[in-house]
Amino acid sequence: MASNNWWQHAVVYQVYPRSYQDSNGDGIGDLNGLRSRLAYIKKLGADVIWLNPIYESPDKDNGYDISNYRKINPMYGTMQDFDELLDEAHNKGLKILMDLVVNHTSDQAEWFKESRKSTDNKFRDYYIWRDPKNNREPNNWGSYFSGPAWKYDEKTKQYYLHLFEEGQPDLNWENPAVRESVWDIMRFWLDKGVDGFRMDVINLISKPAGLPDAPTPDNAVYGDVQAVVADGHRLNEFLKEMNKKVLSKYDIMTVGEMPGSTPEDVINYTGFDSHELNMVFQFEHVSLSPNPNKRLGKWNDQPVKLVELKHALSRWQKALDGKAWNSLYWNNHDQPRAVSRFAADDPKYRVTAAKMLATTLHMLQGTPYVYEGEELGMTNAHYKQLSQYEDVEAINAYKELVEEEKLVDGKTMLRYLANMSRDNARTPMQWDASANAGFTNGEPWFALNSNYPEINAKDELADPDSVFYYYQKLISLRHQNDIVVYGNYEELDPEDNEVFAYRRNYKGQTLLVINNFTNQNIERDYGQETYDKLLLGNYENSNTKIFKPYESRIYLKKA
Ligand code: GLC
Ligand code: CA
Repeated sequence: MASNNWWQHAVVYQVYPRSYQDSNGDGIGDLNGLRSRLAYIKKLGADVIWLNPIYESPDKDNGYDISNYRKINPMYGTMQDFDELLDEAHNKGLKILMDLVVNHTSDQAEWFKESRKSTDNKFRDYYIWRDPKNNREPNNWGSYFSGPAWKYDEKTKQYYLHLFEEGQPDLNWENPAVRESVWDIMRFWLDKGVDGFRMDVINLISKPAGLPDAPTPDNAVYGDVQAVVADGHRLNEFLKEMNKKVLSKYDIMTVGEMPGSTPEDVINYTGFDSHELNMVFQFEHVSLSPNPNKRLGKWNDQPVKLVELKHALSRWQKALDGKAWNSLYWNNHDQPRAVSRFAADDPKYRVTAAKMLATTLHMLQGTPYVYEGEELGMTNAHYKQLSQYEDVEAINAYKELVEEEKLVDGKTMLRYLANMSRDNARTPMQWDASANAGFTNGEPWFALNSNYPEINAKDELADPDSVFYYYQKLISLRHQNDIVVYGNYEELDPEDNEVFAYRRNYKGQTLLVINNFTNQNIERDYGQETYDKLLLGNYENSNTKIFKPYESRIYLKKA
């Protein structure tokens, strides 16, 4: 089994800084605001904070377009504020992970400003420039954010590649100078004392030789770029170089975001002796039930089937066991809220279902990630109009699919967005029932979810049965029981579409975890009466064979 690394025992709490806590009344969350909430995060029991990008940025994609990697975006504060935040976090025993966004930069980054000046500029090869082909884009690649992945630049009459927004040109990792520049940025932050990185779309950095066309499902206008750029042929090599030159010199943790990677790929990148990264965010369990019309892609309208969800998670649990390490998440800033998505969004069962989902995830093998507000059971935003959305992905998708290509009508698209938009996760944190939920004294940059008077941290901290305290208990179970960290994974009844049950085994002990994913009473027998102890559950006085709506139980059998 894996060696004893601190990040295997850790629980990570993700902070989306602009939506966490405003300290100066400008309506935008900031570093000093976060600092004032460290005690809250500590109380939950998390060990590590992952901060979404806080660097200087024109903010076309909420900070994922970085113009200066060594500067703090003034709307979040100053470098001194950052240093103080890091110090105080460390004093409280909390570590901080930075978001490393190096598949692309902003078009306002110095490197790109230089690069676009002339074809012989020293920085030209920092990016991916190509001549037009038949007076068009160099290939058929589509951007993740709709439209082509190429932008023509008048000045030098070539196209540059941008897998995401136009303002996010892709770096050319083939160029050794780019890699050295990235290692320098990493050292800059590590030498300050940060505790690691979450690496944005890191499996897209190695582009296929010759940049071949991508498949076009259902005659789409642009090719499905992920099919050709994910897990490129030089990715292992680049990550090994990163590890050798930078990561191995520090006691840190790393997690790579890898859309489309399979368990086999991920074992290569994160295997306990592969000398690359510690773990990966895989996407399988959050990519279920996509639209049957492939051109509508991720926009989904169907509830996820439990058997599919179980299959996806079990596959990763089994494949990585003993070889590599999982990251466990339901939520982040790119995903709709878990209670809305996986538990029918029924207010009557919100609290119970949030605890059930938490149990399902936190008792698996891997490092759990909690996204701000998840520990309160925050829900989707239930927007009804396009004007309520802020995210470039949602707005572009509506424009392309409804207005330009007329693939769906506006009403249907609004339903897709209400289910799936990233904005569901980005509404400000709900601290209390006062104006703007205690997030800001000013005008919030993004409207609050209107349910904050009923769902907020203050009320939950006053209620011993709240979702918050349930998360606290799950986290402490992990910290106190090695079986939760290291136990293997044994799937029970994979075809059961109502209950997600599994066992973990470690040094003669067994953990039995049972989760009712329905709003009905259900009878199941996993031999739970033979266990020594009920460690945690989300109902009081529960009967041993009947599981109430969204009931969860965790049993332990001693060695
Ligand atoms: C990642 C980020 C997402 C961002 C994209 C481009 O998927 O999580 O928020 O838009 O990369 O950087
Ligand atoms: Ca502010």
